Amino acid sequence: MSSKPNAIQSQRLLIIDFGSQYTQLIARRVREAGVYCEILPFDVGPDVIRDFAPRGVILSGGPESVTEGRSPRIDEAVFELGVPLLGICYGMHALATQFGGEVVSSSAREFGHADVTTVMPSKLLGEPTQRSVWMSHGDKVATLPQGFELLAQTANAPIAAMMDQSRDIYAVQFHPEVTHSEGGRELYQEFARTICGCEPLWTPENIAEQAIVSMREQVGDSHVLLGLSGGVDSSVVAALLARAIGDQLTCVFVDNGLLRKNERDQVEAAFAPSKALNLNLIVVDAADEFLGKLSGESDPEGKRKIIGNTFIEVFERESNKLEGIEWLAQGTIYPDVIESAASKYGKAHVIKSHHNVGGLPDRMKLKLLEPLRELFKDEVREVGVALGLPAELVYRHPFPGPGLGVRILGEIHQSYAEVLREADAIFIEELRAADLYDAVSQAFAVYLPVKSVGVVGDARRYEHVIALRAVATTDFMTATWAELPYAFIGKVSNRIINEIEGVSRVVYDVSSKPPATIEWE
Ligand code: XMP
Repeated sequence: MSSKPNAIQSQRLLIIDFGSQYTQLIARRVREAGVYCEILPFDVGPDVIRDFAPRGVILSGGPESVTEGRSPRIDEAVFELGVPLLGICYGMHALATQFGGEVVSSSAREFGHADVTTVMPSKLLGEPTQRSVWMSHGDKVATLPQGFELLAQTANAPIAAMMDQSRDIYAVQFHPEVTHSEGGRELYQEFARTICGCEPLWTPENIAEQAIVSMREQVGDSHVLLGLSGGVDSSVVAALLARAIGDQLTCVFVDNGLLRKNERDQVEAAFAPSKALNLNLIVVDAADEFLGKLSGESDPEGKRKIIGNTFIEVFERESNKLEGIEWLAQGTIYPDVIESAASKYGKAHVIKSHHNVGGLPDRMKLKLLEPLRELFKDEVREVGVALGLPAELVYRHPFPGPGLGVRILGEIHQSYAEVLREADAIFIEELRAADLYDAVSQAFAVYLPVKSVGVVGDARRYEHVIALRAVATTDFMTATWAELPYAFIGKVSNRIINEIEGVSRVVYDVSSKPPATIEWE
């Protein structure tokens, strides 16, 4: 399941996952240091660990306690590799117990900031100093295993870091991967580059170059089809493939009538044929077809189904007009791969309730091309920038596959979509003007077909309501409503009511997820 190493992945680290909510952050920190790494579940088995041939292993945190009988252990194959090890939180406890030290449950769970004092110099933490770090643990190491030295302490954890520098084995109680931990990035960089000796080969330029070369080899003279949504992932796949195989690629962009303002123009402009990009882009105007099929449907799941199925029909119809297509390109990214690996190895995990529109019928029998399979979202964005895609496209907020279809509550009418498009554009324009767009993770307007009375000028208005939604989140699984300045919300509200005829009132959504979701449907 792990990928075959090639040049820029050959010097790599392995992250053994014990189920911490921060495991993906560890991987991102290592990759930010320019070093490739993959995450594998702790019980993946010795053969997979040996075959992976890492230059170092990081043992993640996890929810379990080593003081309880059946807690997960570190596979012996990890020790047999003879490479540097770094244990984080649960990883530290597992190392301590497996090397003969003692771990005890603390009466008080330590959660949040702590000041950690390093008591001796080390390759991992440098000269003795004090730093503020993020803690999240119940257990702690009470007795050092043989051969280990005390490296750092906090008020609550007398052994907050330990090491056996002769064997390059290190462990910390805190979570250096969390941004609130001072010196965390440096710690991962030291481990990956200095202690494990990996060169910083994992850069956006190298990633792009390697993907281009390898897709060119894979595809040969055949042809590739890509459903281009205008989202970051499919746009980056398009840019990579355009460079790899030029006009052997055909992209299909479907205008379903539920796009944001200027979305279609933006995609057409970003992928207009040029000397650098020789791309076949088919833009299908299917707005009437989508809106026609949606007519009369007011149930959210019903609308999602209609939109998804209609997309597949349109896509299939277009692809049948083309000859010689052997491949279908997709923008699958690494978190999707980790999630399916977790389910493959039977771990409890959260299943995303939404998938991008575009699951295609089996009868299409196309081979899959997934050039982003090893990348995190931020890496996809950096590759997009390295390929020259416009920043507005690369750093856009996520937009759901069913588009405005799930932001117009109940039955969809073209006139509602037009009003919503304008309101949404005003909100986004003002967010950008106030430098707030990048400060929130996702922001949009929602159309509420509820009538309310207003007075605009001297005239009474009896029209529908627009809700503004803005959230802060890292993973979109949980989110808090964004505390946008009142004056800002007031300005957006004024503009929407004054500039758009069909709106009498604007409200701001102050619900977090859970219990609400980010979208309204
Ligand atoms: P919720 O509303 O579940 O949304 O809190 C979480 C994230 O997923 C996006 N989303 C979707 N994406 N198809 C998609 O491709 C969908 O049907 C869908 N519904 C929600 C949402 O925009 C947010 O980023």
